[in-house]
Amino acid sequence: MKKVLTVFGTRPEAIKMAPVVQALNHSPWFECRVAVTAQHREMLDQVLDLFGIVPAHDLDIMCPGQSLFDITVRALRGLEDILRQEVPDCVLVHGDTTTTFAGALAAYYLQIPVGHVEAGLRTGNKFAPFPEELNRHLTGVLADLHFAPTARARENLLAENVPRERIVVTGNTVVDALLATARRDYRFTEPGLAGLDLSRYRILLVTTHRRENLGAPLRGVYRALCRILDDFPDTLLVFPVHPNPAVWEGVRAELADRERVILTAPLAYLPFVKLMQAAHLVLTDSGGLQEEAPALGKPVLVLRDTTERPEAVEAGTAKLVGLREDVVYQTTARLLADTETYRRMAGAVNPYGDGRAARRIIGFLAAYFGLAHPPDEFT
Ligand code: UD1
Ligand code: UDP
Repeated sequence: MKKVLTVFGTRPEAIKMAPVVQALNHSPWFECRVAVTAQHREMLDQVLDLFGIVPAHDLDIMCPGQSLFDITVRALRGLEDILRQEVPDCVLVHGDTTTTFAGALAAYYLQIPVGHVEAGLRTGNKFAPFPEELNRHLTGVLADLHFAPTARARENLLAENVPRERIVVTGNTVVDALLATARRDYRFTEPGLAGLDLSRYRILLVTTHRRENLGAPLRGVYRALCRILDDFPDTLLVFPVHPNPAVWEGVRAELADRERVILTAPLAYLPFVKLMQAAHLVLTDSGGLQEEAPALGKPVLVLRDTTERPEAVEAGTAKLVGLREDVVYQTTARLLADTETYRRMAGAVNPYGDGRAARRIIGFLAAYFGLAHPPDEFT
């Protein structure tokens, strides 16, 4: 048996690592230990509860208004003690958060092999998304094994001279989590959603949180959405608001007390998935939603100028809209008014995986440690 320590800290990392933790726990080859930095607190705990994950270590680093320096220093410092105590055979990190980078760096300092789940996504612009583009790139430099979700992500890594035999295309574990969760039943109990007949409206599901979009850019987006609500009386805007006070500030200023706007606290993953299933359209600057919505056949308008997830745009279910008020308004209005354009975007495609990514990761890891033959698809 080899010991694998998974390290994560935010909501999306937890959702996407949950299938990996579950697969490790069910495998004959690995003992899985979980360390969380808790860069997020409530939003992380929601996911741990849903998937029944009990961390062996919890650094509890989150503080209101934390800076990138706060997160990096606290995570790195705390992880040293955990790694020295656990002495794992491998550390697995996920994606592009500051926890990801700190986890990979801490493991490297102690010369522990690092596996990077969701490796190889790139925009090529080091300030967009900020600081995620560099977090992911730097983690790739530190990693020994690269679990690329798509062929394109592998190409990005090969172009940076990562050895071919250290990369495997697995699909994205978010699809594993999504498909397992979408099968479950749920009745909304959340304030604003309980008892609401969602089928009466065309639901516009909105989330925003990117650091580089805070302030004026997002406020322009919210103003565009108000104009949409005025012009399309059958629409209802549902917006689970990220708890970052800087996000709330803009939301409160532009969207509070408006008709047909439901502002909620972040939803647990199960209700959120149910909301995505009920939605007509998703508008977001989130990374994960760009992967989930296509799998559910929901068009996504991406509120960013660039994306490290071009596959859904190429498949036609996502559109890169940017943040300019007039463009967001016009694109959304067109999609609401033109059923043919909507129908073309709403075909379900799954460029990000088939729900078996975690199994492939565990298979590749077992082969790396000489515990099993590489699965046929990797040879
Ligand atoms: C972080 C990640 C980002 C990821 C996002 C997912 C970095 C630098 N950023 O950004 O890559 O896309 O998570 O959501 O790693 N807060 C709470 N409760 C929570 C979570 C956050 O109150 O459960 C508030 C705190 O005031 C915190 C603030 O939100 O200071 C910002 O959290 P932080 O993790 O620094 O940044 P995110 O924008 O969430
Ligand atoms: N999500 C959730 N509740 C919410 C909003 C989002 O569970 O209220 C999930 C969503 O389905 C996706 C993930 O959180 O799996 C995305 O997280 P976020 O947008 O915060 O981060 P990103 O993906 O941009 O890093």
